[in-house]
Amino acid sequence: MQIYEVTDVDDELVRAFERLIPQLSSSNPPPTRQELQAIVDSPATILLVAEEDGYLYGSLTLVLFRIPTGLRAWIEDVVVDGEARGKGVGQSLNEAALDHARAVGAATVDLTSRPSREAANRLYQRLGFKARETNIYRFDLS
Ligand SMILES: CC(C)(COP(=O)(O)OP(=O)(O)OC[C@H]1O[C@@H](n2cnc3c(N)ncnc32)[C@H](O)[C@@H]1OP(=O)(O)O)[C@@H](O)C(=O)NCCC(=O)NCCS
Repeated sequence: MQIYEVTDVDDELVRAFERLIPQLSSSNPPPTRQELQAIVDSPATILLVAEEDGYLYGSLTLVLFRIPTGLRAWIEDVVVDGEARGKGVGQSLNEAALDHARAVGAATVDLTSRPSREAANRLYQRLGFKARETNIYRFDLS
């Protein structure tokens, strides 16, 4: 299994996200080709995928942005195909993201995960993520 940053958007990538995103979110449609291109083109987003024999088994997006207090890094949209779970793909994707964040000078990496996502929470804690005491707010603009 190879983990790498996507630099080109092709049909296989579009199809992979059509397959993977419903396994992550029932409320958000998969990204279009143009939306995937925007992610790949942006210096703020690193789109990582896990691939074996030309098949994409998982993905994660590392978000990097500078604010007055430093370079912030967030891990978002972690998903591994149901058939490939429990084999360390999620771990490898996260480790690759942490390596990248470290390499570009981020001091910390944040993420959120609902408690009901048991496999994800186990994985993050096993990797060394620590729960923070903070309130997460969301303003709904719709
Ligand atoms: C979370 C997720 C990315 C993990 O991917 P993965 O490739 O299975 O990850 P790993 O194999 O590296 O580790 C998964 C951990 O979850 C456990 N796990 C795997 N499948 C599981 C399942 N069906 N139920 C419960 N735990 C499971 C594994 O045992 C492992 O924990 P352990 O080693 O401490 O026992 C994957 O389960 C997934 O895509 N889930 C749906 C989307 C999601 O919740 N994304 C996270 C958003 S915050």
